[in-house]
Amino acid sequence: MINNFIDISDYNKSQIDEIILIAKNIKKNPKKFSSVLKDKTLGMIFEKQSLRTRLSFNLGMKKIGGHVLELSSKDIGFDNIREKSEDVLRVLSQFIDCLMIRNNDHKKLVDLSNQKIIPIINGLTNYSHPCQILGDFLTIQEKIQNFQNCTITWIGDFNNVLISLLQLQNIYLFELKVVIPSKILKSNQKQIKKFKNKKNEFISDPKLGALKTDCIMTDVWLSMGEKNKNKIKYFKNFTVNDKILNIASKKVIFMHCLPAKRGQEVTSKVLDGKHSVVLEQAKNRMYIQQAILIYVLKK
Ligand code: CP
Ligand code: NVA
Repeated sequence: MINNFIDISDYNKSQIDEIILIAKNIKKNPKKFSSVLKDKTLGMIFEKQSLRTRLSFNLGMKKIGGHVLELSSKDIGFDNIREKSEDVLRVLSQFIDCLMIRNNDHKKLVDLSNQKIIPIINGLTNYSHPCQILGDFLTIQEKIQNFQNCTITWIGDFNNVLISLLQLQNIYLFELKVVIPSKILKSNQKQIKKFKNKKNEFISDPKLGALKTDCIMTDVWLSMGEKNKNKIKYFKNFTVNDKILNIASKKVIFMHCLPAKRGQEVTSKVLDGKHSVVLEQAKNRMYIQQAILIYVLKK
C-alpha cells in the first residue's frame, strides 16, 4: 500500500486530526519518537529554492531515526528526457522509502503520485503548499484558544498557500475572510466558486477583512515562478501594517509562511512585532512534517 501526501483535500477531518495529534505528541516528547522511522530513507528533490522546507524535512527525518538524501533533479535526470520520470521513480523505490518533491508543475506531481510507485509528499507546487498549511494549523491551535470558533483573514495573492488554506477551511469550516485585489479576485472566479461556503467570504478591502479577526495571514505578492510581474500594482493598500493590526482583535496573531518581502506585503514593525508568530510557525513545520512522514510510512 502506497500513501501519498499531495493535497489537504485528499484527507478527511479525522485523518488530519490524527496527523496534528502525532505532531503535538512529537513536540511534547521527542525522545519517544527518536527511532520511529529507523532505517527509512527520505529522498528530496527541490526544483525551486527552499530554506524552511529543506531544513525541517532534513532535520525532522533524522530526529525520528531516518536518513535523508537530497537529489538534484538535473543530476538524476528527473526530466522525462533521459528516461521517463516514472522509470526514475521505479529505480528510486529500490533505494529509498519516500520522496518529497518541490516543483512548479502540480499536475506532474499528481500524475506521478497516482502511479503509486513510491510515497510522494508535496513540498510545494505552483498550485498548493499543504505541509505549510498543516504546520500553520498546528500553530493556530497552539496560539488561539477556542480555535474552532476563530476567524482567520488572508490578505494577499490568490496563490498556492491560499489554496491549501481554502482546502483546510472546506474541511473544518472555520470563519475565513479572503482579501484579494479585485482584479485578481475577478480572474479567479471559477476557483473561488469551488471553495465557496457559508463560512468564507471573498472581498477586496483589507480593513473590512481585518475587522475583529483573530489571525491575519499573508504571503509574498509574487510567488516563485510567477510570470506576471505586473500584478504587483494591484496590491495598493494591501501591506499588513499597524493600522490593519489595530482593527483586528486585541490578541490577533500575525502569520507569514516566509520568505517575506519586508515593506511590501508586511512592514518590518509587524513582522518583528509582538503579534507575529512567524518563527514559531517556521519551527512547527518540522513537527508537522515528522507527523506526515510517520503517517505516510506507517499506515
Ligand atoms: N515557507 C516555506 O516553504 O519556506 P521555504 O520556501 O524556504 O521552504
Ligand atoms: N507563495 C510562495 C510560498 C513560498 C513558501 C511561493 O510559492 O513562492
